[in-house]
Amino acid sequence: MPFSLAPACRRVLVGAGCFVFTTMSLPAMADLPPIDARVETLLSRMTTAEKIGQVNLVSRGDPIDGQLERVRKGEIGLMLNVVEPGEVRAYQAAARQSRLGIPLVMGLDAITVFRIAMPHPLALAATWNPGLVEAATRAVAQETAANGVNWTFAPMVDLSRDPRWGRVVEGAGEDPVLASAMAAARVRGYRAGGLATAVKHFVGYGAPEAGRDYNGAAIPASELHDRYLPPFRAALDAGSETVMAAFNTVNGVPVSADRRLLTDLLRGRLGFKGFVTSDYNAIGELINHGVAADLAEATRKALLAGIDVDMEGAAYERHLEAEIAGGRVPIATLDEAVRRVLRVKFGMGLFDRPQPQMPPQPAEAEVRALARDAARQSLVLLKNERETLPLTPATRRIAVIGAWAENDYDQSWWGPAGLTRPATETLLSALRSRLATGQSLEYARGFGDGCGYEQGDVAGAVETARRADVVVMIAAEDCDISGEGTSRAYLGLTGAQQGLLTALAAAGKPLVLVVATARPLALTATEPFTAATLIGWYGGTEGRTAIAEALVGEITPSGKLPMSFPRSVGQIPISYDGLPTSRPPGNDRYTSRYIDEATTPLYPFGHGLSYARFDYANLVIKGSEMSTQSGQIEIAVTVSNTSQRAADEVVQLYVRQKVASRSRPVRQLKAFEKVRLEAGARRTVTFKLNSSDLGYHDDEGRLVIEPGPFDVFAGGSSTASLSGGFGLTGPLVIAEPR
Ligand code: NOJ
Repeated sequence: MPFSLAPACRRVLVGAGCFVFTTMSLPAMADLPPIDARVETLLSRMTTAEKIGQVNLVSRGDPIDGQLERVRKGEIGLMLNVVEPGEVRAYQAAARQSRLGIPLVMGLDAITVFRIAMPHPLALAATWNPGLVEAATRAVAQETAANGVNWTFAPMVDLSRDPRWGRVVEGAGEDPVLASAMAAARVRGYRAGGLATAVKHFVGYGAPEAGRDYNGAAIPASELHDRYLPPFRAALDAGSETVMAAFNTVNGVPVSADRRLLTDLLRGRLGFKGFVTSDYNAIGELINHGVAADLAEATRKALLAGIDVDMEGAAYERHLEAEIAGGRVPIATLDEAVRRVLRVKFGMGLFDRPQPQMPPQPAEAEVRALARDAARQSLVLLKNERETLPLTPATRRIAVIGAWAENDYDQSWWGPAGLTRPATETLLSALRSRLATGQSLEYARGFGDGCGYEQGDVAGAVETARRADVVVMIAAEDCDISGEGTSRAYLGLTGAQQGLLTALAAAGKPLVLVVATARPLALTATEPFTAATLIGWYGGTEGRTAIAEALVGEITPSGKLPMSFPRSVGQIPISYDGLPTSRPPGNDRYTSRYIDEATTPLYPFGHGLSYARFDYANLVIKGSEMSTQSGQIEIAVTVSNTSQRAADEVVQLYVRQKVASRSRPVRQLKAFEKVRLEAGARRTVTFKLNSSDLGYHDDEGRLVIEPGPFDVFAGGSSTASLSGGFGLTGPLVIAEPR
């Protein structure tokens, strides 16, 4: 094997002992003992202190010298936030110089950006295109891996139905089927690009009460299994090597100390074999949760519950040795945690490569092309009255209003600090370069600052609007108000933005509102003033260009909402797949309704308009019955593009079990496919459903497949009206917990 090694590498352990890579031939490599045997050999040589080092995940120190020394002593097994290749090499060299030469796992929040920014994960989910998401994610991983990072704290697969929670930006929205498809796509993409993954945050972090970050969640077992676990299963099936535990409590117990979730469920039932890391300082925070009196108790509870690795909590490194010596934590529990870490390290091939892998950067043009495609496909056209969009050359004078139009930094979620990234083309420049002959564009900032918080020259903006045929106002939720620790109690446009929008009505011109947001907003107050609304998300490096392309009709929006947009905060949590009530909403007082607001969202899950028109017909269910015992049914629907414009459409299939032992959701997404349809073309899309897709979980978490009648709905959103039905027949099937 043509490895060339620095002398220190001679101590890299492989199998039963050390060997020198330069002498190794390919057949010898193939003869290596299986990973478990290599792990056992290594483990048998470790001191307790070295074992504790292997479960210690530490953030890059500044300066790094002291830390390098600690790595040499074997006190650190995993790092986060080391992103500079020279530093990565230095850390890995220090690890090779440690007594056992165990390489480091180098972690980073490589979410959707290292250098070129992709749209953030919720926007990626709006593409409903797992293949594209996988490719975009692979590119992010390749850029990250090129710098020596080998592990990402992603994907976040927490299901979320509460847009007050700022971290919805990082997930795939409210639906388990869409979120599972995205979870698997992202894990595949990261791994193909050279990063191990940490699927997070196991489990229930996305359901904090009142949408307040870190707040506790109450999740009944049936809902945990029906909704919150499927994306984790999908990520694990796709090969996620590691899992990050949630910060919060679920049903009163902090997840980081909950053995039932981390061990019985994750390892026992889901069969997870990799390691579990805590979230940042989460072990110490068990004290704040009130389940540990001090850090020693927190250490004990976390390890015994199933937290293998301590992220930046200094709990294990300070207390584990004494806890073991005092007999309060069996050494076997630490051994098992170390085994899991080593198994992942061997599995990643770290022992087989003396130098950190730094594959070449992917070509910038290719990454940008993916970023552009992802940004285009994520755009969601919420409304488009009187075909205001796209702007045609017949629209002579365009007014662009809002300081965001000058913004060349898209706050995509989130990349390593201190790196220079290519600028994002501004919306203004992207639109200007697309003006047809005879078209003009006039711009007014409208705000006093770049973030839309302060009122600017509103009168000037209104005058600019008056001189135009169409007004495009860009509003945004940018400027650091999305992501971790950014829960909001109000979800309208922030600062001076609604005021400016309202004032623009005086100009009496058709108004197109572009919203750059990383979460669903309650846009009810904007509705009276807008003819069209386009959700641009935080589209990444190519995002604002993609918006300009959509505004002028170079592309046709095809994104669909991965989360409902509520009418008001009072409706939250809101999702399309709630249970029916005893008294469905109606005009009568004693029905399930609000006296001051509708019960439907402003824009539902799955919604998104196109410049093309699609008709759905011929819902054909092959066979009117299927068996509860491993039956399968095929459902076909024909979608036609009745417009003059080629476009993409997301064909969605929903079901409802009409009668069962438990109330079943009014609709549930079961399958979807994004299709390209030329002008005038039609296509029949066929979905296959298995009987197990139609089951639900009971209070013990068992899968129940219950005979009964089902409704089927197919169309371009969760309100699709084309319907049919079939029956699930046969005995009640209950699958015991695995
Ligand atoms: C805290 C976040 O909850 C987690 O998702 C992230 O990976 C860590 N910080 C590390 O940055």
